[in-house]
Amino acid sequence: MWRIYTRDPEGRRKNSPGRKSWVRHNKNREVPEGRPESTTNVRRPIRRSSRLSYPRAPFVVPAEMLRGTTEAMRKARPRIPNAMKIAFAAAALAFTAAGITHAQTADQAWLGYRELAVKPEVPGAIAFLYRRARNGPGALPQNASDEVLEGAASAQLQSGLMGMLRQGPKLVNSGPRIVLVGTRAEFNALYPMIEIPELGPESFWIGTSQTGGGAWDILVAGGDGRGVLYGAFELLRRVSQQQAVRRIDLIETPAMPIRWVDEWDNADGSIERGYAGRSIFFDAGHVRDDLHPVAEYARLLASVGINGCNLNNVNNAAPFLEPDMLKGVARIADTMRPWGVRVALSVDIASPEKIGGLKTYDPLDPAVIAWWKAKVDAIYSLIPDFAGFTVKADSEGQPGPASYGRTPADAANLLANALAPHGGVVLYRAFVYNHHLDWRDPKADRARAAYDIFHPLDGKFAPNVIVQTKEGPIDFQAQEPVSPLFGGLEHTNQAMEVQITQEYTGQQRHLVYLAPMWKGVLDFDSRTENRSTPVKEILAGKSFHRSLGGPGSPRTGLRSWGGGMIGVAGVGQDAWLGSPLALANLYAFGRLAWDPNLTAEQIAEEWTRQTLGNDPQVVRTVDTMLMQSWPAYVHYTGPLGMQTLTDITGSHYGPNIEASENNGWGQWHRADHEGVGMDRTVATGTGFVGQYPPEVAKTYENVATTPDNLLTFFHHVPYTYKLDQPGFGGKTVIQYIYDSHYEGAEEAARLGDEWATLKEKIDPQIFDTMQARLTYQAGHAIVWRDAIVQYFLKLGGIPDATGRAGHYPGRYEAEDAKLTGYTIVEVHPWEDASRGKAVTCMQSAAMEKTSAVSGHDFSRAENKTEKNGASAPAGTCAAEWTYTGDSGRYPIAAQYFDLQSGTARFALFVNNSELAHWSADAALPTRDLHGDNSTRFTSAPVELKPGDTIRIEGTPDGHDPAALDYIEILPQAAGG
Ligand code: GCU
Repeated sequence: MWRIYTRDPEGRRKNSPGRKSWVRHNKNREVPEGRPESTTNVRRPIRRSSRLSYPRAPFVVPAEMLRGTTEAMRKARPRIPNAMKIAFAAAALAFTAAGITHAQTADQAWLGYRELAVKPEVPGAIAFLYRRARNGPGALPQNASDEVLEGAASAQLQSGLMGMLRQGPKLVNSGPRIVLVGTRAEFNALYPMIEIPELGPESFWIGTSQTGGGAWDILVAGGDGRGVLYGAFELLRRVSQQQAVRRIDLIETPAMPIRWVDEWDNADGSIERGYAGRSIFFDAGHVRDDLHPVAEYARLLASVGINGCNLNNVNNAAPFLEPDMLKGVARIADTMRPWGVRVALSVDIASPEKIGGLKTYDPLDPAVIAWWKAKVDAIYSLIPDFAGFTVKADSEGQPGPASYGRTPADAANLLANALAPHGGVVLYRAFVYNHHLDWRDPKADRARAAYDIFHPLDGKFAPNVIVQTKEGPIDFQAQEPVSPLFGGLEHTNQAMEVQITQEYTGQQRHLVYLAPMWKGVLDFDSRTENRSTPVKEILAGKSFHRSLGGPGSPRTGLRSWGGGMIGVAGVGQDAWLGSPLALANLYAFGRLAWDPNLTAEQIAEEWTRQTLGNDPQVVRTVDTMLMQSWPAYVHYTGPLGMQTLTDITGSHYGPNIEASENNGWGQWHRADHEGVGMDRTVATGTGFVGQYPPEVAKTYENVATTPDNLLTFFHHVPYTYKLDQPGFGGKTVIQYIYDSHYEGAEEAARLGDEWATLKEKIDPQIFDTMQARLTYQAGHAIVWRDAIVQYFLKLGGIPDATGRAGHYPGRYEAEDAKLTGYTIVEVHPWEDASRGKAVTCMQSAAMEKTSAVSGHDFSRAENKTEKNGASAPAGTCAAEWTYTGDSGRYPIAAQYFDLQSGTARFALFVNNSELAHWSADAALPTRDLHGDNSTRFTSAPVELKPGDTIRIEGTPDGHDPAALDYIEILPQAAGG
């Protein structure tokens, strides 16, 4: 009895006969159960030369092949130029087979494809259909882009499956028990009896077919080459999570056409707001010679469906349009193309003047229009599938159309018109605001800027312009309301910009999994026209019936007009994002742009399984840590919608509560002696609330209905205001501020404790790297806690009902110690040090000489101490305290400042016996004593009794003066 697979209205396969059949019957012959006829009947013999077997290795596509593909696109001839290009996959894989490996690979992220404990059953061969479908009579027209993408898909499948299953599927032309990989058109040409559902661009279907005797095939069909590639990665994603694929049957279509990462790389190789080393793209004003990390990055991006990469910083973009640089960018485009990632560039709107020799950059000037057209044509002659431009204009000192009294639409359309004939797009950033606002004006409000400027322009943008709006109205804060602009543009394509690089969220030194925050924004219902208009549907073009896709590029056929998501990634040479767990954010960004209906938990689990393995304890623990991390960070850095209370004119890292106030940058929290928060209501405030559609505005206008977690963003409330919404415990605002900071610091410490339970189960390198970061984070959360708590205690003068604020049991201040060599200094901002003071070993300049001459090192400090009792050796300062607490066994924490340009060293002694020593060798922001670099070292527990002496010796180095804030005798439980 033959089973006929059918589909229900949602496209799921059913087994009930009599409905639309999945496999058509061959009139002359009975087809075995579910099996495509041709796999037994029409399949061509396998030619020996096409049997390819490849080892698992980073996939590298040879430059000749890529140039060939570019060339093919450039000439817009739908055929493969020559035999060498046809054979690209073999050549590519042979290249990797030669054993070429590179330090930075996608394996370091979630594409490790390590051996699975439970190995799902997968057919033992892979065939990609491209060549067979293109050869012979009735062949499909050739398409260089699909060939490259399908080849990459097959090779990736092969190496991934080989890694996970430890038996390599062979690459074959055809045969039984096979994973067939091709576009829908190719399947239709070769296997007309298989009914493959309609598939749009970038979509895929994965299904199976039955053969007799238990044999079966997996079919990966794409709507186009990209769809094939994404389907292959989806299959691998499932296998890597040990999911059975025996009955796999799914169709996936990306929710949004624009799914880009933005890199803020500068031509010199530095990265604005990057926290993982130097650029993988640029160095010393040029594109780097070695682009292997770029290929690996593109592979990572493709694995989560990211299809564009904007390469350079939105600031200082003009040099990137110089001819030499564009040639280099074309090399990058060649490198990323096999993975379906198109490159884009940030451009400076003043380029015609800055690099073009014109006297103006007025967007309506004919010479300017001609300049851009010529420049864009030149770019496309080098990069036929160039994706487009990103623009930051009239913002934070960048030039813009306002200089000529023109609007953002004038500037955007100027570029859009030049790009349109080639199928390119303009991502025009709505991050436009005046950073010279008058902070004394209670009506001035930076949050209003994007809507005030862009809402009146709705409908005036060319169809290939996408307005790119940050998720909140300010600037990537740890917590903000959703930007009202999403609901305010009904006739304009929109993309949401989020930050993967953790600028305001701990700069990758803190674990902060951002998917829950992004999900909150995507799911937010802006209620435009009093109907359901969630942000994710606006970005997908559904809410306001934006037509997505555009006409497509005449040369490449690629369509990308429409909405989407942009993630500012900031990857660098230090294992992509520096912190292994921070990579969950890059992964989550891609997954949400593909399908914003996935949950943050689902994504966390997928990522953990692929990156760290399927051990249930690992999966449970890491998922829990990820999900706890963002709320914890909000708790200790700025709850109740205060935004991140950091140094906004500097590093954006440690606490500096007043940095936001009294300046034109407009990130004000308006804390005073009575209360905190910014009145943004229509009735009495800045009127920002009125930018939301009426239903949402009504909620935020009223202090009682405003969600407590955003309270101070919308209202100035007294410290005694009661929070009565669930989860806020009926506390006063000030008590909540105290409590959340203590709880947040405890939550941060727990992250490290949870990680520690996985010691035997995680790759040692990843384990150690994360353990060091989480230990640091727990200490830095205390810096945040104490800064904010003591600041508000002083400002409001209201005691903490639980007695913690201002009282630090077990703490011994450095300024109260018996000091040898150390000098007491004031720290700025005062709240970044305990009681505002610290001590520094001011001999640092002299020390440089001493060190150089004597080669003084830490072990010598120890020897001297033993010989000389309590006196410190030359060049080393000491702070000594007498212990006054109860006898017991306690860990000792030392809070010190780890400054740049020098590696100070510290030693901790109890009764002249060294307990521990450490170096201040972290790379932390800011050259002065500051919450940015205040760091905690915690010793193992030690026996203490009243009268014992505790001493810290600090040895400065370079500009690091071995500064100390305090020591703290921790409760016994803290150290075990
Ligand atoms: C933030 C960031 C800047 C960046 C800007 C932007 O303000 O600190 O470095 O240039 O955002 O998004 O343009």
